[in-house]
Amino acid sequence: MLDDYNNTQCVMKQYKGLGPDYYMCSCNSEECNDKLIFTPVNNMDMFQLPQLCKFCDVLPSICNSSGICSSVCNRTSICENPGEVCVSVWHTDGENTTEETLCHDPLQSIHGVMLDDYNNTQCVMKQYKGLGPDYYMCSCNSEECNEKLIFTPGTVTPEVLSVHAVLISLAVLLVLVVVIISFLYLHRLILLRQRQIKPKCPGRDFSDTRAIISDVDANSLNHNTELLPIQLERMVGKGRFAEVHRARLTNANAGGANMPFQMVAVKIFPSEEYISWKMERQIFLDVELRHENVLHFLTAEERRADHQYWLITAYHTKGNLQDYLSTHLLSWEEMYRLGCSLARGVAHLHSEQTPCGRPKVAIAHRDLKSANVLVKDDLTCCLCDFGLSLKLDSSLSVDELANSGQVGTARYMAPEVLESRINLENTESFKQTDVYAMALVLWELTSRCIAIGEVKEYELPFGKLRDHPCVESMKDSVIRDRERPEIPSSWCKHPGVNAVCATIVDCWDQDPEARLTAHCVVERFSALQDLDQNSLSSSPELKIQTE
Ligand code: ADE
Repeated sequence: MLDDYNNTQCVMKQYKGLGPDYYMCSCNSEECNDKLIFTPVNNMDMFQLPQLCKFCDVLPSICNSSGICSSVCNRTSICENPGEVCVSVWHTDGENTTEETLCHDPLQSIHGVMLDDYNNTQCVMKQYKGLGPDYYMCSCNSEECNEKLIFTPGTVTPEVLSVHAVLISLAVLLVLVVVIISFLYLHRLILLRQRQIKPKCPGRDFSDTRAIISDVDANSLNHNTELLPIQLERMVGKGRFAEVHRARLTNANAGGANMPFQMVAVKIFPSEEYISWKMERQIFLDVELRHENVLHFLTAEERRADHQYWLITAYHTKGNLQDYLSTHLLSWEEMYRLGCSLARGVAHLHSEQTPCGRPKVAIAHRDLKSANVLVKDDLTCCLCDFGLSLKLDSSLSVDELANSGQVGTARYMAPEVLESRINLENTESFKQTDVYAMALVLWELTSRCIAIGEVKEYELPFGKLRDHPCVESMKDSVIRDRERPEIPSSWCKHPGVNAVCATIVDCWDQDPEARLTAHCVVERFSALQDLDQNSLSSSPELKIQTE
């Protein structure tokens, strides 16, 4: 049945039942069946012209480096049958490359395979299973389309291969270099970490922060590309340049599986105090500073978003020595531990060698006081607040020396500092001022030890002076009146305390040269240990625990 008889033109179409070789149209205008119109769909089938293809059988092939090859074929043929498409077969035997160009009916196999890309307008080379690895073939259905053979990045021609070979060799070389550099870097990191974490000598204990260090330490060398996951909790101290906060380090690796966070201390410098942050960080970054009696540094961070600079260290629950002494009395044994460890910390700062004999830069603290000493859980001391510290090496500039006359806290300033008469040419002078301040802290410890007899309320040295005495009033006391904190004779009944008091007196001598060195103070404490064994053993209360 006709279904297009209302058309004005005769548009040819096929009808089921007529067979594939019949087209029919109907229309309803004057002589409209004079012109038969084939639409593109049926036009292809009915009036397809034979294709024009390169047809040279086998000839050499020339390829360029961008993956396009062409044969030297200059013969274009009209394919025999309208359904035929252009085909190229490309082959290499390792040395020579050839190209076969031909017309082919895609419904028939060629070289044992069926073409599946003959509707393409370009001849894109591909491999066919069954043709072998050295054969590529393409087919296409536009005029002379098999003249240019396109090799996509997945396919390789010898010329492309040579370019690829160079690129691949370069890439392999690059990977090798990266692997070697990474290996060297890791090796160095491991060495550094071993030096930082391993107790340097048998018997030394770094337990205070051992759990947290391993991951964080790498960061302190890494210049803080990533900020640590830290939640500030509360402020625990406020200094000249910064505030100290207790904080949680919520790193999964922070303290093992059953400890989802670790307490740390964060010293926060506002952006105006950048220089102070940088100076203290610089002191901490010296790996040889690490010691059980020096606050353990974890990392430094620039918190740009908050305009802050952070120093992240171990946190010590017992807080600073000044606060601890104001609320605790000490047994002789506790006083000994605190005093001896304090001297050890100062001796380590001042030393030009680590306990294992490696060279290190001597450092003067320059603001030693009980508020800058922390009490660890095992009732030993660790020094903190290195904001005014000075590296006593050849890198000290004339400016640094010139500006280093009078720094610190007036109450703890040695006479030569109060007078600004410190011998800047001799780096030992800076150590001597630290020893003077240490003597005052040892006095504070002794004043709270029950072994002295009656123990009074805690008082700072020169406690009768007002809260923050100025340099002038300290000068009056320390230089004009040659005053020192009182050591009543009653304290000296105890042989241990007596020895400590003698050491204190030798450390706060008016003459800086006459003072003991911190190292010598450690030896005096060690000698006390022998005294304990020989003379103090009768009194259990006076027994010194062997470390
Ligand atoms: N106060 C100052 N620094 C501290 C620290 N690291 N731990 C506890 N209290 C502090």
